[in-house]
Amino acid sequence: MAKLILATGLAILLYAHLGSSYQLMCYYTSWAKDRPTVGSFKIGNIDPCLCTHLIYAFAGMRNNEIINTSEQDLIDYEAINYLKDRNTELKTLLAIGGWKFGSAPFSAMVSTPQNRQTFIKSVIKFLRQYKFDGLNLDWQYPGSRGSPPKDKHLFSVLVQEMRKAFEKESTEQEIPRLLLTATVAGVIDTIQSGYKIPELSQSLDYFQVMTYNLHDFQNGYTRENSPLYQSPSDTGIYAYLNVDAIISYWKDNGAAREKLIVGFPAYGHNFILSDPSNTGINAPIVSTGPPGKFTGEAGLWAYYEICTFLNDGATDLWDGPQEVPYAVQGNVWVGYDNVKSFKIKAQWLKDNKLGGAMVWPLDMDDFTGSFCQQGRFPLTSTLKHYLGVQSTNCMAYKEEL
Ligand SMILES: *[C@@H]1O[C@H](CO)[C@@H](O)[C@H](O)[C@H]1NC(C)=O
Repeated sequence: MAKLILATGLAILLYAHLGSSYQLMCYYTSWAKDRPTVGSFKIGNIDPCLCTHLIYAFAGMRNNEIINTSEQDLIDYEAINYLKDRNTELKTLLAIGGWKFGSAPFSAMVSTPQNRQTFIKSVIKFLRQYKFDGLNLDWQYPGSRGSPPKDKHLFSVLVQEMRKAFEKESTEQEIPRLLLTATVAGVIDTIQSGYKIPELSQSLDYFQVMTYNLHDFQNGYTRENSPLYQSPSDTGIYAYLNVDAIISYWKDNGAAREKLIVGFPAYGHNFILSDPSNTGINAPIVSTGPPGKFTGEAGLWAYYEICTFLNDGATDLWDGPQEVPYAVQGNVWVGYDNVKSFKIKAQWLKDNKLGGAMVWPLDMDDFTGSFCQQGRFPLTSTLKHYLGVQSTNCMAYKEEL
């Protein structure tokens, strides 16, 4: 009997330990369904067993209240939250903001106590109404892009007030508290103008750190989108434009390790080389590269579009110091991430005892598995595997055609 109790106790302990593994947060972008043919990604394409959190991008704001941005959004909110029937552990977050949304509505909203209360009240009501488990604030960025310096302080105030309101609602209604997270910058200057890190770390559940888009064509040279480490050619401010330096900065300046969620891009940035015989890192470029056949944005290719580039004969190379790949054909160059770099970064994340990974966006992974011949969602699946994300209570993939 005693033995049995002991064994049961041990099993519970082990189970509790397994359950407390890393977070794997995956962004769903509502515009991905509008891509042509096999590039179209709908809620039905999501594997509900892949991620611990799904984040719906993006909600908007009107009169300081959170709103849907289309009629279809409401249908999709229901569909994404319905996935929790198939994975009882799955959590969903609604993201508000994004790059195109800009700073102005956030600046106006945080500027007075009344506006903040209006926003917070509307958020609680909206999230509960559509059955989300929390909010992802995606203000790009407090203190930048037209947002005045005082917004650095006001962003902290908003987050503190919102956390208090979420706690109060949870206690009063006797239901689990809504999660509160923020997607935050990777560039050190932007971090310094935007965030009171220790204060935010007290009130936020997680920081989703944008450790990608670290170099663009205006720099004039080929560079990687999301290198793990510094390249020998990275001097001055460039020395901080890598995942390791950015996360160290957040950690060293007051963010709790276990709240740091590292951004993993399921895409790369491409360029046109000035001289097709000079193809390494830091080679001169003339412009961004061609848009992807499905994603249609100059200078950017989804992972599955990069697989087509490779299948069509591009040379795949490995950037040793930075631990990320790049590929070249003729005068077209792309710096990206693949299964190998995701695996190395996942190990680094575990070595640093961080909170987990965030994939931006799920719809740029090879979700059909037909482009890369590495199975469905090869990049996100790599993270699930190496971070040891459990999905024992999950109903396996359901085909929706
Ligand atoms: C939000 O959804 C409602 C209901 O379908 C719709 O009437 C409204 O126009 C939507 N909002 C926006 C901004 O599209």
